[in-house]
Amino acid sequence: MLFDTHAHYDDSRFDADRDELLGSLPAHGVGLVLNPGCDPESSRKAVSYAEDYPHVYAAVGYHPENIEGISDAAVEAGLTEIEALAAHPKVCAIGEIGLDYHWCKEPEGRRRQQEVFRAQMRMAGRLGLPVIVHDRDAHLDCLTIAEQYPKVRGVFHCYAGSAETADRLLALGYYISFTGVLTFKNAKKAVEVVRHVPLDRLMIETDAPYMAPEPYRGRRNSSLYVYRMAEAIAEIKGLPFEAVAEATTSNACCLFGIRP
Ligand code: NI
Repeated sequence: MLFDTHAHYDDSRFDADRDELLGSLPAHGVGLVLNPGCDPESSRKAVSYAEDYPHVYAAVGYHPENIEGISDAAVEAGLTEIEALAAHPKVCAIGEIGLDYHWCKEPEGRRRQQEVFRAQMRMAGRLGLPVIVHDRDAHLDCLTIAEQYPKVRGVFHCYAGSAETADRLLALGYYISFTGVLTFKNAKKAVEVVRHVPLDRLMIETDAPYMAPEPYRGRRNSSLYVYRMAEAIAEIKGLPFEAVAEATTSNACCLFGIRP
């Protein structure tokens, strides 16, 4: 059984077939899905899918890109709502949260992202929930903040850092998760990290509707393709597919406190 630990079913690209698709996943071997939120609205939607489907779980959080152009007061109110949503029994993490420096070049904007990230790390600590971290072009600052909250555990999703950074995250108790990037021809760095990280600390995800793996690259991604990440890890580590499927599912269930 596979666990897609990161998929955004609130995206409008699922409007035409969301219910059909979500309902069909267990029959295709995808027994569990975690839908993270990116702001209060998408967090509400994540919780509603978790209520509708026994195999769907939710995370709630404010994504660094989604605070762009939102007033401090509105972000503050959003965080209060996110914390209230986190009390729902099917919310199993705070996420996705973190830093995205790709489009944010000004020091002031980056400082603001760090503040909101830290506020949500404190929230996760208060609530005893793990975090789902988005780190784009901000490896050092994400690591520094993770190290400032040593009691909080979590996963670095769509991992793009080095094996050395992964070691420091593993020491903190974090897991490392991979998307379709792992199946791309130029995925040298990701392949190296997969070889390096022990199987009991790896997770798989689609990040649907983005990041479709080969041979579906360029199409709308969905949890139906999460088997490709398990195949890629199995090939890199020289293990049977079933062993990777079982381990990555049990790793995610352990971190997110889900009894499969
Ligand atoms: Ni995401």
